[in-house]
Amino acid sequence: MRNRKIILGLLLAVSCILGAQNKKSMPIYKDAKRSVEERVNDLVSQMTVEEKVLQLNQYTLGRNDNANNMADPVNDIPPGIGSLIYFSSNPELRNRVQKRAMKETRLGIPVIFGYDVIHGYRTVYPISLAQACSWNTDLVEKACAVAAQEARMSGVDWTFSPMIDVARDPRWGRVAEGYGEDPYTNAVFGVASVKGYQGNDLSNPQNVAACLKHYIGYGASEAGRDYVYTEISQQTLWDTYMHPYEEGVKAGAATLMSSFNDISGTPGSANHYTLTEILKERWGHDGFVVSDWGSIEQLRPQGVAKDKKEAALKAFNAGVEMDMMNRSYDNHLAELVKEGKVSEEKLNDAVKRVLRIKFRLGLFDKPYTPNGAEKDRFLLPKSLEIAEKLAEESIVLLKNDNKTLPLTNISKIAVVGPMAKSKWHLLGSWRAQGQSDDAISLFEGLENEFKNKAQLSYASGCDFEGDDKSGFEEAKSIAKNADAIILCLGEKAQWSGENASRSTITLPQIQEELVAELKKLGKPVILLLSSGRPLELNRLDKLSNAMLQIWQPGIAGANPIAGIVSGRINPSGKLSITFPYSTGQIPIYYNHRQSARPHQGKYQDIPSTPLYEFAHGLSYTSYEYGELQPSALKIKKGNKLSVSIAVTNTGNMDGLETVHWFISDPVSTISRPVKELKHFEKQMIEKGQTKTFTFNIDPIRDLGFVNGKGEKFLEAGEYYIIVKDKKIKVEVQD
Ligand code: GLC
Repeated sequence: MRNRKIILGLLLAVSCILGAQNKKSMPIYKDAKRSVEERVNDLVSQMTVEEKVLQLNQYTLGRNDNANNMADPVNDIPPGIGSLIYFSSNPELRNRVQKRAMKETRLGIPVIFGYDVIHGYRTVYPISLAQACSWNTDLVEKACAVAAQEARMSGVDWTFSPMIDVARDPRWGRVAEGYGEDPYTNAVFGVASVKGYQGNDLSNPQNVAACLKHYIGYGASEAGRDYVYTEISQQTLWDTYMHPYEEGVKAGAATLMSSFNDISGTPGSANHYTLTEILKERWGHDGFVVSDWGSIEQLRPQGVAKDKKEAALKAFNAGVEMDMMNRSYDNHLAELVKEGKVSEEKLNDAVKRVLRIKFRLGLFDKPYTPNGAEKDRFLLPKSLEIAEKLAEESIVLLKNDNKTLPLTNISKIAVVGPMAKSKWHLLGSWRAQGQSDDAISLFEGLENEFKNKAQLSYASGCDFEGDDKSGFEEAKSIAKNADAIILCLGEKAQWSGENASRSTITLPQIQEELVAELKKLGKPVILLLSSGRPLELNRLDKLSNAMLQIWQPGIAGANPIAGIVSGRINPSGKLSITFPYSTGQIPIYYNHRQSARPHQGKYQDIPSTPLYEFAHGLSYTSYEYGELQPSALKIKKGNKLSVSIAVTNTGNMDGLETVHWFISDPVSTISRPVKELKHFEKQMIEKGQTKTFTFNIDPIRDLGFVNGKGEKFLEAGEYYIIVKDKKIKVEVQD
């Protein structure tokens, strides 16, 4: 017994010594009990310049689905690379490459894997432009949380999303990717996306790091062409483009992506003012900026760098920490440091920013993604439910003459058009790992909805484009025998998104001619329009009785769309972007400056007002808006003010109603838009019920404006609070 105690005592002593030695020998950066900053500083202090530079590079790994970009063969990838864009849909390859980083490098720094999870990973939900039409930030947050869960469980730690570029030229294909024409809308939905992606803890294995993009002003691309010059004054930079990014940084977005566009002579990826003075010094962002794909090397054709080395110098010193797919930093940064053109201090700061996000993601402590079956990662019932609900609430009823919709008490419906049985195009651009087989087509959705209610017939009628009218006769023949005609039209998925500018926003002539032919039959014509941008609809507006803008609703849009057609669902979407009367009006948006001669200066040949305005959207029920009720009509600058309005559902169907609150400041030191959205609220109002909507106004936040230095100011004077066609004047006093 005594000997046993001695042995146990010795064993205990040895284990304590080993433990202490182990603890002493474990470097701080590997100790999960230490703070992130301690670990970051400890690690950077041990790194060579070469190891630091590698952390600032991003290559690609796995199948590449973006025709613009080519993937890298795995063996060319240095084990110590900082980041990879990960195209595979399961963690196996990622873990294999991660193991090399952890085991075959001197310090074992994990790779961070990024990917474009823009509107869903495998459960593809509506494009962002459509999401904003739901005016439901909670739902968007939930959808982004689904995307994060599917992505993180598949080996992606970081999404290059949300895209929050204010865009007012629908010829630009990337208008599909953001939240429309309004700064406040892009800010609110950008924040909701960041919260959905990142949750409360980046190390949670179902959260991913977000990336605000494309910083900044990319949406101002001249004439809607992509990758081109953007004329942006300091004033416009601040009153139109900066707000969504400032709010996204405040919400804790881990990263940003620098933009392609040349911002009035200084490209977004070489812009020290935006990337360092504002983002880092004024806003205190402590994450990192990744370039866009090739945007560093592109400084050369943009005329601000003579070669790749100078491009690397300009981008890095401006404040771009990571080089996406350019091989500018890995080829030149170490040399630039040795030449003293890049300071060791700035190099260390950049590396710390990247490592900080890797530590926060928990990659040092859990570098590998558990291998799970697809059925446990993708298309979970709750995920599909969220995708369907978001599609439902993003659909906008543009027109409904004489209550053509909903289709009730009807026995025969002709379903015509190139979009009727398409699944692929409903997913839109940037579909990540989306599979069209996961989608329900519009025709299938209508079959599901009208089963045992009505007899459906189908004819494609025509293709998306071209001049083959041979299908018209079949379409006419089924339409003749039907009580109503549903035409499923729109854009191919590849007609919007990156590098997808169009000189006109009209649908191809063949589609319009098909509508005109079927209109001659004298039956109700209902259009279901799928697109990644606003369309020119002035002719189709005259040829149709009802029009539903269904956007690119993702894999689960068809059933709710059919539910709206049948009346099971009351549409609640409202436009997040103006629909011009025609391409010739572009740019046309609601928050424009006032004309010097409001009653003159109109077009001679077309109307000067849009076909469908920002925030337009019809319902099957009717609402009566009461009077605006302010808590005061005069307030001192430091006081608060609230304004309420009662809205009654006067129809015979429950409905979700969004109230948009605008302000206007008719006289200001700097001219202001005729009105500016500052708040919105969506509520269910049951038929016959009245609900109160309230805007709690913080004068500097909601009535103030910003100057060309980014300084908010509030001037004494008259302001208006506006809801629909109602407005009240409030006076702000010093
Ligand atoms: C593309 C896009 C950007 C995307 C990146 C990675 O060129 O501009 O939005 O995140 O490259 O695919």
